[in-house]
Amino acid sequence: MAQHPEAYHPGDSIAINRAYLDSLLVEGRILGAEQPSTEIRLFGETFGTPIMTAALSHLNLKGMARGAAEAGALVSIGMGSNEEMADVLSTGAKVMKIIKPYADTEEIISRISFAKEHGAVAVGMDVEHSVSRTSADADVVAGIPMKLPTLEELKRYIELSGLPFFIKGALSVRDAKAARDLGCAGVILSHHNGMMRYAVPPIRLLRPIREAVGRDLILIVDGGMEDGVDAFKALALGADLVTVGKAVMGPLQENGSDGVRDKILEMTREMQNMMIRTGTKDLEHMDPTVIWNA
Ligand SMILES: Cc1cc2nc3c(=O)[nH]c(=O)nc-3n(C[C@H](O)[C@H](O)[C@H](O)COP(=O)(O)O)c2cc1C
Repeated sequence: MAQHPEAYHPGDSIAINRAYLDSLLVEGRILGAEQPSTEIRLFGETFGTPIMTAALSHLNLKGMARGAAEAGALVSIGMGSNEEMADVLSTGAKVMKIIKPYADTEEIISRISFAKEHGAVAVGMDVEHSVSRTSADADVVAGIPMKLPTLEELKRYIELSGLPFFIKGALSVRDAKAARDLGCAGVILSHHNGMMRYAVPPIRLLRPIREAVGRDLILIVDGGMEDGVDAFKALALGADLVTVGKAVMGPLQENGSDGVRDKILEMTREMQNMMIRTGTKDLEHMDPTVIWNA
């Protein structure tokens, strides 16, 4: 059996993703560049940045949402009670609620209705969390049983929601096309902190998925985005939005909503720096050919 340094876990998708992100180089095209705009229009709203919070849980989600909203960002939130969701929505943040793939399908339907009634702008499901990390068994999250939804169940959720619906955990052209055919507005490319070992880095899937689905789906990518350069690379390769999870957790813990706001604004400035250096005037003009080694 191969020997590895102690800290190295074979097949660690987080490490594989980081190495891939770091291998991507950026070509400079500064001559004649214009001041870049980072605005994005989505769900009938204008956001100041394509960097959004990841679907997190078991944290001060209200503080996270307030900070992200102050930075002009879309907010996604993960597992939590309906009361917590309502509390987050009361901040005025534009929220995408990611609902767990509960075994109890009625629970899913009631949560979708609650999100809609309380003003969420989009909903989704982290399908990647329906099965265990290590077997084909259904997962159990915080004591609650999950289930891999059937395609028919997903179709029902999507139709019932009447909101833009996102499948979180798509990691192939095949699943992206299936999500589109089910009626999804978009997919979140994510391996959820290495739930699947040896996963193709989500950012590496952006180009083939974009080529396959064109503008039919909104593509959101997550996984280890630490700064605005990481975000720029993902956007150049075809993402519409980039989510940030672990990178806002420290700032949230240390400085509450101000910490989240400042981290997103800092990342947006770094991204803007890469945009002017690559002659990219706005998000519509992101060009994958500025990225080398992709
Ligand atoms: C503390 C914590 C809680 C999370 N809770 C959820 C959740 O409830 N639902 C979900 O879809 N993803 C959840 N995630 C996964 C994130 O949305 C995201 O997929 C993952 O952290 C990778 O992004 P990152 O590297 O930017 O953190 C959670 C992640 C963390 C770190």
